[in-house]
Amino acid sequence: MAFIETERLLLRTWMPSDAAAWLAIAAQPDVARYLPGVAEPTRSDVEAWLARQMEEEEREGFSCWPVVRKADGALVGRCGLHRMADGDVEIAWAFDRNVWGAGYATEAARAALAFARDERHLARVVALVDPRNARSIGVTHRLGMRFDRVVRAYRRDLLRYIA
Ligand SMILES: CC(C)(COP(=O)(O)OP(=O)(O)OC[C@H]1O[C@@H](n2cnc3c(N)ncnc32)[C@H](O)[C@@H]1OP(=O)(O)O)[C@@H](O)C(=O)NCCC(=O)NCCS
Repeated sequence: MAFIETERLLLRTWMPSDAAAWLAIAAQPDVARYLPGVAEPTRSDVEAWLARQMEEEEREGFSCWPVVRKADGALVGRCGLHRMADGDVEIAWAFDRNVWGAGYATEAARAALAFARDERHLARVVALVDPRNARSIGVTHRLGMRFDRVVRAYRRDLLRYIA
């Protein structure tokens, strides 16, 4: 069971009871815009996604974890790791539109990268970002990730960054 603590946040294992809170974030158009998957997710889409996260956690010992704000216990986003079909591990992040600009994505992703490096000894972690997603590119810069190349993934042309 994952449990990572940062100054303001907790990253932990998903629970079925997180579905409503995550749906409220995933359904925001600004959040869904550059994410793979449907633009207007339903409760059953979110439940299926959560089930896949819990399976990945069992199999790999990581997932794209829920991020909880310590100050009030609110689920404010997701951030974590995913093993792709080619074997590489991807880092991903998405946060409630209402908390953008607070540095939460950078804080959570820094902790997820430290987990990948220190706990899992992964040689590299990649991020795949839509070239129009300036805020996400900003996160890669704050993390010190380096641009590698353009790749075709999730049926889009995406910028591949490496940590
Ligand atoms: C991508 C996404 C997570 C970025 O969120 P974000 O809040 O802009 O990113 P950060 O957590 O790095 O926060 C940086 C901002 O917080 C500010 N900030 C405040 N306190 C901070 C702190 N302690 N540390 C770092 N930044 C801080 C920074 O100045 C910066 O503000 P600016 O964008 O106005 O310059 C968000 O836009 C999102 O959820 N998008 C939808 C989902 C998505 O597209 N995901 C990516 C798929 S590849």
